[in-house]
Amino acid sequence: MIRVHVLESSLGPACSAQAQPGEALVDVCDVARAPIAFSCRSASCGTCRVEVLEGAELLTAPSRPEQEILDIFEARPNERLACQAKLGAGEGVVLLRWAGED
Ligand code: FES
Repeated sequence: MIRVHVLESSLGPACSAQAQPGEALVDVCDVARAPIAFSCRSASCGTCRVEVLEGAELLTAPSRPEQEILDIFEARPNERLACQAKLGAGEGVVLLRWAGED
């Protein structure tokens, strides 16, 4: 089992949700009402950038479109797009902080 924790942001309080391997992070965030803003949901706007503070190894590698947007925004190495990242195999905790308000 993977547990996704999202730290509080200006959008709302912290939240936590259980997730399954292969699940899209955006779906987990929607169900948990995570304090992360989404706009395009298609790797175009960069609004959903999150800093992965723990558990980066539990996410699949960024796709080419995701990496291109991360590069455009000069994202830190530990940042991902929450609308694109998927949970991979394994068990543990993924700790996220919305980076879109930085
Ligand atoms: S919501 Fe636009 S890049 Fe994720």
